[in-house]
Amino acid sequence: MKVAIVKNAEEGSKLAAEIFIEQVKAKPATVLGLATGSTPVKMYKLLAEAYKAGEVSFKECKSFNLDEYLGLAPEHDQSYHYFMKTQLFDHIDIDQAQTNVPDGLATDIAASCQAYEDAITAAGGIDIQLLGIGSDGHIAFNEPGCSLACRTHSQVLTQQTIEDNARLFFGGKIEEVPTQAVTMGIGSIMDAKKVVLLAFGAGKQDAVVGLVEGPVTAMCPCSALQYHNDCIVICDEEAAGKLQQKEYYKYIFSQTGVSNI
Ligand code: F6R
Repeated sequence: MKVAIVKNAEEGSKLAAEIFIEQVKAKPATVLGLATGSTPVKMYKLLAEAYKAGEVSFKECKSFNLDEYLGLAPEHDQSYHYFMKTQLFDHIDIDQAQTNVPDGLATDIAASCQAYEDAITAAGGIDIQLLGIGSDGHIAFNEPGCSLACRTHSQVLTQQTIEDNARLFFGGKIEEVPTQAVTMGIGSIMDAKKVVLLAFGAGKQDAVVGLVEGPVTAMCPCSALQYHNDCIVICDEEAAGKLQQKEYYKYIFSQTGVSNI
């Protein structure tokens, strides 16, 4: 695991955008793994700007999103389908028929989850996976206590996640936040060839400690990434605030940058 500690979210988003742009330039038919939430918004803006400036094209890319709320239609303005369309897909040249988000309205959830896994496999697997992190250590919607080997499945959200999401979305109305989601599993995420995780703000401090320095445990699902051999954690000073070896990570990063990851 490589840890890049940057000054703020602005710098972290820039670094993440650069990594994604380099990846797509090197392999135009990249299979992208994408995330929603507040964390990647700035990075998506930078990708759109790079596309508009003619620096990169996503024409040949396919994408798979991590998760979707159960019960929300793609047109719902709080759905992750809608988020991706408005925050990224409408602003770049990706073929929207090649973008995939789990189906929040599936009647046969197990079959729909299996079909999602099959589609990822048929695409050749995810080349680069973007992740945010929940304050409780979740990645995608794999909540504390989930299996560290699970594949795409439906998940009951914790009260913490529901509260976090109400604060940022759903106009703050907790009663409107769905209580379940369909999510790629930790096992599905671990299969991605490269993982880029973003963590910004003091609210992510404990989760980042669990991710980088904590024991690998189902109680902090992101900690499974310690077993991934190509994972970069990009966090700002605030999110890195409780890391024991913070200065050492900074030193390593100053020596190697992202190139040797
Ligand atoms: C979203 C997702 C979630 C978020 C996490 C952090 O697709 O998978 O795990 O990354 O809840 O959310 P924000 O970025 O809003 O703090």
